[in-house]
Order: sequence, then structure tokens, then C-alpha cells
Amino acid sequence: MQVRTEAYAPVAGAAMAGLPIVSDGFLAIRDGVIAALGPMDQLPGGEATQTIDATGRFVLPAFVDSHTHLVFAASREEEFVMKIRGATYAEIAAKGGGILNSARKLRDTSEDELFERAMVRVNEIIRTGTGAVEIKSGYGLTTRDEMKMLRVARRIGKETPLTVKTTFLGAHAVPRELTKDAYIGLILSEMIPAVAEEALADYIDVFCEEGFFTPDETEKIVEAGKRFGMKPRIHANQLHRSGGVQVGIKTGALSVDHLENIGDEEIAALGNSNVMPTALPGAAFFLGLPFPPARQMIDSGLPLAIASDYNPGSAPSGNMLTMLALACIKMKLTPEEAINAATINTAAALEILNTHGTLTVGKIANVIITRPISSIAFLPYAFGTNTVDSVILNGKLV
Ligand code: NIG
Ligand code: FE
Repeated sequence: MQVRTEAYAPVAGAAMAGLPIVSDGFLAIRDGVIAALGPMDQLPGGEATQTIDATGRFVLPAFVDSHTHLVFAASREEEFVMKIRGATYAEIAAKGGGILNSARKLRDTSEDELFERAMVRVNEIIRTGTGAVEIKSGYGLTTRDEMKMLRVARRIGKETPLTVKTTFLGAHAVPRELTKDAYIGLILSEMIPAVAEEALADYIDVFCEEGFFTPDETEKIVEAGKRFGMKPRIHANQLHRSGGVQVGIKTGALSVDHLENIGDEEIAALGNSNVMPTALPGAAFFLGLPFPPARQMIDSGLPLAIASDYNPGSAPSGNMLTMLALACIKMKLTPEEAINAATINTAAALEILNTHGTLTVGKIANVIITRPISSIAFLPYAFGTNTVDSVILNGKLV
């Protein structure tokens, strides 16, 4: 499924309900690329070096997870328990927990150790069908440590079969040692040029949120990033109606992500833009936040992407099957819409739709084969079950 010949633009509105399927089909891979596909009776002649019988199973493109923070030093279950006892995300952050807690742990962790720890998560997400992933910095908050994180993210892209895009998120929180103005000064004068010098980041992100960075600060930071070749993607409207969506649109962001707190105004503004609205249902679920009004967004013609937000504070899972389930159960997406949101639309948001996100001849062979299942609705329905049987990345079974 998700078989498309013309697959170079995201799907929006009513078109999100369509998921093209070839039943009783074949898919041929050569040199890591999808060489041919179609119904069985059109199977070309000639010998294959390896054949996989997928009878009774579904074959779909590997998930593209367009928003993660999967390079981090340690988990934060202690805060999870504080939240169970009634503390809020903002209260924990204000006490030096949250992102600052992760930053303290990361500073004392070597680059190699950080890589090893991230590799556990990399292997985990591949097993549940992720083939391409965006990874953000933002737990360093010093030039040295932000660069350390981004080097680890780049190394994951080189040494594993995952396709990786990296994002500089120095503006994730203000470190204790500095005033906000001083820290923004450091981001502008030192961090962005240093990150650009080593070509460590494809994108720039800011946590635009009350208590973190204002829309004006966000604009200033992402505009500086743009001058160094990093396109923006914004953490917007997670905890408050922060103006994040508007600043994302104004600065030409590729995506605005979170969107738990948006209304008609933001939806209308997004309708007149090319920005990909991205829901992170794992974070809304984990923090007990209202879910983004995804139904209203799609019904008003918008595209929607869904990503995991894999991070130790607000979404400790990178399982895209779980995200499909949450999208269907909590945001009332149909299974077809959810799969589109996690493949073609996230690939568009990561600027890799020419090579990823659909089963299309000529694209990279990043393919999931499910267990034997009765329909595609079984994927989000059987929440918590790993319905992915095998994963082929760059044409190789992993
Ligand atoms: O996307 N919202 C900001 N950043 C992360 C959470 C970071 C953390 O708590 O460690 C997020 O939810
Ligand atoms: Fe995030």
C-alpha cells in the first residue's frame, strides 16, 4: 500500500483519506532502489537473487519520523512519577528539571557514550518500522555540547541504515548560568556559526512557548539560522497559544510541530501557507494535554503530519505504530489518514519525498512487511502490538 506513481507532493484535506493499494502485488528491488512494482500478473521475468513471500501481509513504505530528540543521555522516570503525583511539565521545568535536567546529564556524557545510548533507541525504532528520522539537538545548551549532540546525530546517519536529518535546537531552554538575552546572544554569535562551520545541522528549531522563547525571539533566532542555510521548523503551541504558528508561517518554516493549543485563527493562517502542521500525539498523550484539533484541520483542507517527538521528558517512545494508534483513537484520524500522515507527509516535511515516504519506482527501497493481518486498520487497532514483521532499508533486510 501507499503505492503512488506521482508522489512528489504531500496529501491534504480529503485526499488524506486515500491510500492507494495494489492487492496481490509484487515489489522488486535492485541496488537499494524500488525497481518495479505492480499486480502479480505483471511480474517481469528473470531470476531474483532473493524472494520474500508476503502472502497475507501488507507491504508499505517505512515510516518517516520528522520530529525526535532521540540523542539524550538518560531517561527521566523520576519526573514521570512527579507528574503522576500532580506536578505539571511547566512546574518541573521551572524547578530546574525537564530540559535542564537532561542538559546536566548530557554534559557529563562522552560523545561515544552518547552514541551508544542513542543506538539502543535507533535499533528500537527500526524494529517498529522507522526508516528515516529527524534528530534535534537541544540538551547541550553550550556550544560544545550542542555540537556533540549533532555529531552523534550525523554519525547515526552514517553508520546505521536510517536516513537522518539534523536540527539545531539550541533555543530549547535557557541554561541556569545565563540570562535569556545573554544566551540568545551566544546562540546568534557563536553556536549558529559553529554548527554551520561543521555542517552539522540541516534545520533550525526554537521552543516557542511561554517561559521559554517568545515569537519575536524565535523569529530572530531562526532568521539567523536561515542566513547560515538552516531552514526553520518550530516547536509551536504546545502548552499555550503562544504565537508559534504565526511566527512559523512568517519565517517560512517547513513545519510547525505540537499544536495542542491552536484555534480557528491558526488553522486559517496555515491554510494560506506551505507549512506542514505536525501533531506529536505521543507527547500530548504522555503529558495529558488536549490533542491537536486534527479532524478540524484535515476537514478544513490542511495536510497533517504525525511524528513521535521521541524524547526523555514528554514522549519516551519512538514507536510510530503507537503514534498511528493515538492519531486514530485520540484525534479521530482514519487509519488511511494516519498512515499518510506518518509517511508521505512527514517525508515532505523533511524534504525527502523524492526518495522516501511512498512505494514508488525509483525511490529508495525502505519497506515494511507486516505480520499476516486482516486489514490495514489492524495496525492502529492493535495498539501496543508490533505488527511489523520485517523491515528493508536501502534495499537490505535489517
Ligand atoms: O518536544 N517541548 C519541548 N521539547 C520537547 C520536550 C523536551 C523535554 O522535556 O526534554 C518536546 O516535547
Ligand atoms: Fe519536540
